[in-house]
Amino acid sequence: MKYIFKLSGENYNLAKFELETLLNKKLKRNKDSVSIDLPLSTEQINKICNRSAMIQKCYTNNLKIWAAKSDKRFVARVPKKKPKQHPAMLKPKMARLLVNLTNAKKQILDPFCGTGSILIEAGILGLKPIGSDIDSKMIEYSKINTKQFKVKSELKQLDATQLETNFKNIEAIACDPPYGISSTLAGKKMQDLYPDFLTSANKILKKGSRLVMVRPHYLKLGVNKDWKKLGEFDWYMHKGLTRKILVLEKRSATSNAK
Ligand SMILES: C[S@@+](CC[C@H](N)C(=O)[O-])C[C@H]1O[C@@H](n2cnc3c(N)ncnc32)[C@H](O)[C@@H]1O
Repeated sequence: MKYIFKLSGENYNLAKFELETLLNKKLKRNKDSVSIDLPLSTEQINKICNRSAMIQKCYTNNLKIWAAKSDKRFVARVPKKKPKQHPAMLKPKMARLLVNLTNAKKQILDPFCGTGSILIEAGILGLKPIGSDIDSKMIEYSKINTKQFKVKSELKQLDATQLETNFKNIEAIACDPPYGISSTLAGKKMQDLYPDFLTSANKILKKGSRLVMVRPHYLKLGVNKDWKKLGEFDWYMHKGLTRKILVLEKRSATSNAK
């Protein structure tokens, strides 16, 4: 069956990458849509559309079979509807996108969990959410917010540069580390925190697993040979901030040698 997907406009390549991850298939880009022949039922396609953050509409034979109910999809979980709020909270659409980009099937760790936005989207999608944060208050906020949405999460107060002291064999990581503006850097410099976090994350992830992280455009970040860079995408926020969404895969020892 041939399906045509209309995608959300913030960043077309990012939307296409999300769809490719959900379908486990490389796609060809049309002007503002993606068209593909898939041996999937309408029911299976509906499931993928409901999970996605970036699909807006899906057609088959000119017949609309799914359309995003933009006013209803994420509205129940926008920051102001959460019992505990913080200026650095992620919106649910972005949190859902980060979760999807990891390609996680069972569990996901957010080591900068803050108020739990990523944990909530992961839990709603049936993944086991694990959250950690250096700040005990944020752990409490995550606890209260996840409970509100009936999501059970494992939570731990921990420095994200020392994840190996508590975690191993993690399937996927998605996170939005602090920028030091509305969220604390807890005494560290951004230029140290991000690379030190990547080193620690590499120790606890399974080989071939993904890490998806957001950073502000003004922070330069090198990625060493322990990672394969699958993509990097811009998400414009306002004049002073474009978020960069980085998708990395932990290399295996053999792929390192190549
Ligand atoms: C941008 S906020 C995350 C917001 C979160 N995504 C949400 O939607 O609420 C960054 C978080 O990182 C935490 N943090 C700062 N330094 C940390 C560190 N070294 N290890 C772990 N967490 C840290 C802060 O306490 C803050 O909660």
